[in-house]
Amino acid sequence: MKKLEVVNLHVEVDGVEIIKGLDLVVQPGTVHVLMGPNGSGKSTLANTLMGHPKYKVTQGKIALDGKDITSEKANVRAKEGLFLSFQYPSEVTGVTMNSFLRTALNNLHGKKYNVLEFNNILKDKMTELKMDFSFSKRYLNEGFSGGEKKRAEILQLAMIEPKYALLDETDSGLDVDAIKIVADGINKLKQKGMGVLLITHYNRFLEYLKPDWVTVIDKGLIVKSEGDVELARTIEKEGFDRFVKAVPVLANERKELTVKDSLTKEDLVEVFKGYEDPELHIDVWTLGLIYNMEILGDTVKILLTFTSPMCPFGPQMVDELTRRIKEKGVEHVELNITFEPPWQPSEELRTALGV
Ligand SMILES: Nc1ncnc2c1ncn2[C@@H]1O[C@H](COP(=O)(O)OP(=O)(O)OP(=O)(O)O)[C@@H](O)[C@H]1O
Ligand SMILES: [Mg+2]
Repeated sequence: MKKLEVVNLHVEVDGVEIIKGLDLVVQPGTVHVLMGPNGSGKSTLANTLMGHPKYKVTQGKIALDGKDITSEKANVRAKEGLFLSFQYPSEVTGVTMNSFLRTALNNLHGKKYNVLEFNNILKDKMTELKMDFSFSKRYLNEGFSGGEKKRAEILQLAMIEPKYALLDETDSGLDVDAIKIVADGINKLKQKGMGVLLITHYNRFLEYLKPDWVTVIDKGLIVKSEGDVELARTIEKEGFDRFVKAVPVLANERKELTVKDSLTKEDLVEVFKGYEDPELHIDVWTLGLIYNMEILGDTVKILLTFTSPMCPFGPQMVDELTRRIKEKGVEHVELNITFEPPWQPSEELRTALGV
């Protein structure tokens, strides 16, 4: 099947594990947005996908249209149709953009464009991107403004027409007009079937580039992944906090693996220890109100009792505990009440309470 696929990827940089088991799919003709706080591993993922030698895959696999490219060199990956735009493009003195692009195109397409033929294609693309042709005669990225560097990258993209593009913060530093131009450029390629993994912190870009899937990562793991574009908006409004505390879930095609792989009973005990009975001011765990807990798929089932069946705080306790467990990224919480056996304070507790 045609797709760019990442399966259980683990990546080390200088002996430090940065990506810790990541699954992700980019379908042709779609935009998959990757978000996450600074340092969460987004650029590491992009560089690893492209085959940067600094990033060592210790486990898992990367497949491009069914072909395993995990141990291929960057140039092979590029030939297979992968393209990476850098977060911080470097300047290449002595190589004009024109000659750089011509060499790149000749290598990738395995044919020799003559200067005239090449310049015509280049002129067309530059016009589309509203770039002055004189740009192509300048050394690559040298003295380019931030926005110009980004446009130059989209020009490369438009010339090369890769199968899958990894765009690392292509929007940063672009003014409003440039964002629209760059997004239009990407949309045209998307319509031709290019798949995009778009790393971004901003929604401005997403207004023009309609994402098909949004994934949020934190500390090298996926914390949220869904085909709902609202997620990107929520993040921009509210920040990452509520997501980065959430439980890892795997991307698109592996949705069946959810809570049970990451949330542990210890995590639940922590929630119970953090919540006090409103009457006795002792946490519900120490009080012994939790009779049972189960983690099943994306559901957490709790059996709770009260110190007395008439407990006036009962409904409040149920609501508050449910809310706190959901905060851990759990989708379904089933909190049932039982009075069998009725609650009895332990000896220690009797002593502590003086009863
Ligand atoms: N050589 C290294 N040794 C140890 N840690 C490293 C090394 N190189 C990168 N890291 C760490 O890897 C983590 C992930 O970095 P990465 O650049 O992938 O983050 P990012 O998600 O792209 O962040 P940003 O949004 O700021 O671009 C960071 O905490 C970074 O400090
Ligand atoms: Mg980055």
